[in-house]
Amino acid sequence: MKALRVALLGCGTVGTEVARLLTEEGAELAARIGAPLELAGIAVRRPARHPEVPQDLLTTDAEGLLRSDIDLIVEVIGGIEPARTLLRDALSRGISVVTANKNLLAECGPELYEAADESGADIYFEAAVAGAIPLLRPIRESLSGDRINRVTGIVNGTTNFILSAMDETGAGYTETLEEAGRLGYAEADPSSDVDGFDAAAKAAILASLAFHTRVGAHDVHREGISEVSSADIAAARELGRTVKLLAICERVRGESGEESVSARVYPAMIPRSHQLAGVGGAFNAVYVEADAAGSLMFFGQGAGGVPTASAVLGDLVTAARNRIAGGFGPRESAHAALRVQPMGETPTRYHISLDVADVAGVLEQVAAVFAKHEVSIAVVRQEGRTADANLVIVTHSAPDRALRATVDAIAGLDVVHAVTSVMRVEGEST
Ligand code: HSE
Repeated sequence: MKALRVALLGCGTVGTEVARLLTEEGAELAARIGAPLELAGIAVRRPARHPEVPQDLLTTDAEGLLRSDIDLIVEVIGGIEPARTLLRDALSRGISVVTANKNLLAECGPELYEAADESGADIYFEAAVAGAIPLLRPIRESLSGDRINRVTGIVNGTTNFILSAMDETGAGYTETLEEAGRLGYAEADPSSDVDGFDAAAKAAILASLAFHTRVGAHDVHREGISEVSSADIAAARELGRTVKLLAICERVRGESGEESVSARVYPAMIPRSHQLAGVGGAFNAVYVEADAAGSLMFFGQGAGGVPTASAVLGDLVTAARNRIAGGFGPRESAHAALRVQPMGETPTRYHISLDVADVAGVLEQVAAVFAKHEVSIAVVRQEGRTADANLVIVTHSAPDRALRATVDAIAGLDVVHAVTSVMRVEGEST
C-alpha cells in the first residue's frame, strides 16, 4: 500500500525518539497500520543542532514541508506560535495531527478542533498530559458511556520529585529545588513546573474531556509549590499526611442541583493512605472517579523522551489507521458547556497551624473567627510550649473565599503570634 507521509515538527527530546522509533520499528508499525509510515521531513530551527537524525530530512521550512503531500503531522515544537498557525492550516487542509503541545491545546484547543471538524482530519494528543500514561483515550473513549465526577492527578513530575524529596529528607524548598536541578529533574528556569503552569494546562485538558465542557488554562485556579515549607511538610507528617501538587477537576453540584466544573491546581495535604500518596519521585498518577466504573488509577512516567514517544506513536498509529479506513476518531465534545466555578465559591478544607499566646480565652477568640465566617472546625490540636502554644486546626469543607477570610482575620488577632502553615486538605471525607 502507498506509504503515509509523516512530517515531524520539532526535534527535541521527544521528537528525536519519535524519529528513531519510526525508523527502527518501521516494519512492525507498517504491519499494524496496514501501510508504511514514511518520515518525509523534520522541521527544526537550527539543523546543526540535530546530528542524531537523518540530515537529509532536516529543513527549516516547516510550511514548505507541510505543503509536500503530507498525510500526518507530529508536532513537538511546544509553545503557541508557530505551532498554532501551522497546525490550524494543516488541519483545515485535512492533514491529521498528533501533538504533545499542552499549552497550545489549553489556550487554543477549540480553534484547532473546529479546523479538524471542518475537514474531517484527526487531532490526537495523548502525550500532552502525563507523558506515557494512557489517560486521555480512556477518558475520551473507554469512559464515554460513564459519568466522570472527579479527576485528581499528580501530573507534574518535577514538582512531585521536589515534594517527595522534601518529605523524605525534611529539607526546605529552595535547597531541594537546587538538588532537583543538579540531578536533571528541574529545568534551569523551573517556573512552568514549580508555579503550576504546566499542571494547569494539563488540568484544562483533563477537565474539558471529562466534563464535555471547554475549559481553558485561564479557567484553572493555579498555585505552585514555591511557598511550601519544611514546616508544612512536617505538619502534614504529624497528621499522617503528605503534601502533593494536585490537579483537581471536579463536577460540582450547587444547592439547587445545577452543575459546574471546578478545575484547580495547588499543593495539598492528602492522607498517607491515599492512592496518590505513594506516588514518589518524578512519576505521575491520575485518580479518576466515575459513577459506574468507580475509582480508577493511572500511573506511570509523565515525561522523558522515550516514554512520551510511546504516547505519540500510539496516536500516530491510530490516526494512520483512521486515514486508511477513511474515517476519523472522536471529535471535540463540549455539549455540556458547564459553568466554570470560581475558586472563591469552591468548597475545600484547610489545615491551619498557628503560634498563639498560651493564655485563657485564646481558643475562644480563634474559634469565634471561624464561627463568624461560617467555617466549621473538624480537628483542633494544641501543644503547649514555654511562653506560647502551637495550635493546629483542620476545617470541614467550606467555600474557599470564607476560608481565606478566616485565615486573614485570625492573622490579625493580638493573641496570634504567627500563622506558620496554611494548606488545603484533600482526599478524605468532609
Ligand atoms: N515538565 C513536565 C514535568 C513534563 O515535570 O512533569 C512535561 O509536561
